[in-house]
Amino acid sequence: MKVTVVGAGNVGATCADVLAYREIANEVVLVDIKEGFAEGKALDIWQKAPINLYDTRTVGVTNDYSKTAGSDVVVITSGLPRKPGMTRDDLISTNAGIVTSVTENIVKHSPDAIIIVVSNPLDVMTYAAHITSKLPRTRVMGMAGILDTARYRAFLAEALNVSPKDIQAVLMGGHGDTMVPLPRYTTVGGIPVTELIDKETLDAIVDRTKNGGGELVKLMGTSAWYAPGSAAAQMVEAIVRDQRRVFPVCVKLEGEYGIDGVYLGVPVILGKNGIERIIELDLNEDEKQLLETSRGHVKEVMDALDNINASKA
Ligand SMILES: NC(=O)c1ccc[n+]([C@@H]2O[C@H](COP(=O)([O-])OP(=O)(O)OC[C@H]3O[C@@H](n4cnc5c(N)ncnc54)[C@H](O)[C@@H]3O)[C@@H](O)[C@H]2O)c1
Repeated sequence: MKVTVVGAGNVGATCADVLAYREIANEVVLVDIKEGFAEGKALDIWQKAPINLYDTRTVGVTNDYSKTAGSDVVVITSGLPRKPGMTRDDLISTNAGIVTSVTENIVKHSPDAIIIVVSNPLDVMTYAAHITSKLPRTRVMGMAGILDTARYRAFLAEALNVSPKDIQAVLMGGHGDTMVPLPRYTTVGGIPVTELIDKETLDAIVDRTKNGGGELVKLMGTSAWYAPGSAAAQMVEAIVRDQRRVFPVCVKLEGEYGIDGVYLGVPVILGKNGIERIIELDLNEDEKQLLETSRGHVKEVMDALDNINASKA
């Protein structure tokens, strides 16, 4: 299996590293626009192979998409990250231009690839990649839900003093403050979390999760990369190994949850064809309301992108 990661920055290089050391692909091609940057990162990862004992070939290129030809999966991480004080939506104009041109190059050389978008604002960049690629919606998706869920699970594991391995959870909606956590679908070793934690602590954890990205931007001056890179690699693994894992993934909704034409995180089954199935949960009224707020927010940013594109035309 051949996997391309576009953007050799913090998230892209982390993703490539996880793909290599876990031997998720035979070949990983790292692409960046900065001269020599991807080559250097790829060489560094390859030189780690004799230490960490893997044989995934890691190659770096500067904007040369011919080397990405025939990729099975492509992860797009190219674009600006947030700085303190910025929202993800502030990145829209610059990152949409980058994601669009990258997607054009990807589909030219790998028309059968499955595309995973990571660049922010995530839901709208997934929209940009999808309309540019003209691929079916099952083959163009965004990574956010695995990361947001991981943050929520990590906070819960800390509060309950249990292994994060035993916490199962699902989150829905857009990647941002309007994400929709679903505590009634959260379990700890099969036990509903509401039986193990009081409401006040759980509410505080949900709030911290919603602002989980911002917390890290404040601490580091830029956005996170270890968990985001690993989350993207986990999606690649589910696809290339046809694992049929159940993850929250951003996809274009076409009537599911009563929503049409908006890109939102929902639970899906991920396998060799990309999104094998969208799972529709029976949401209660409160959850439906939260999802509607999230939909409205993502749609606003999609419209903003449409206006930017129209003014360029
Ligand atoms: N979806 C998520 O959950 C999530 C999580 C973290 C970060 N992100 C987003 O991922 C993106 C990358 O974050 P990062 O921390 O790795 O940033 P970074 O600045 O470290 O890396 C971005 C890389 O993209 C490259 N790049 C820019 N334009 C390019 C182009 N046209 N072609 C190829 N490469 C190009 C840059 O040279 C840079 O190396 C940001 O938009 C960030 O907001 C998303």
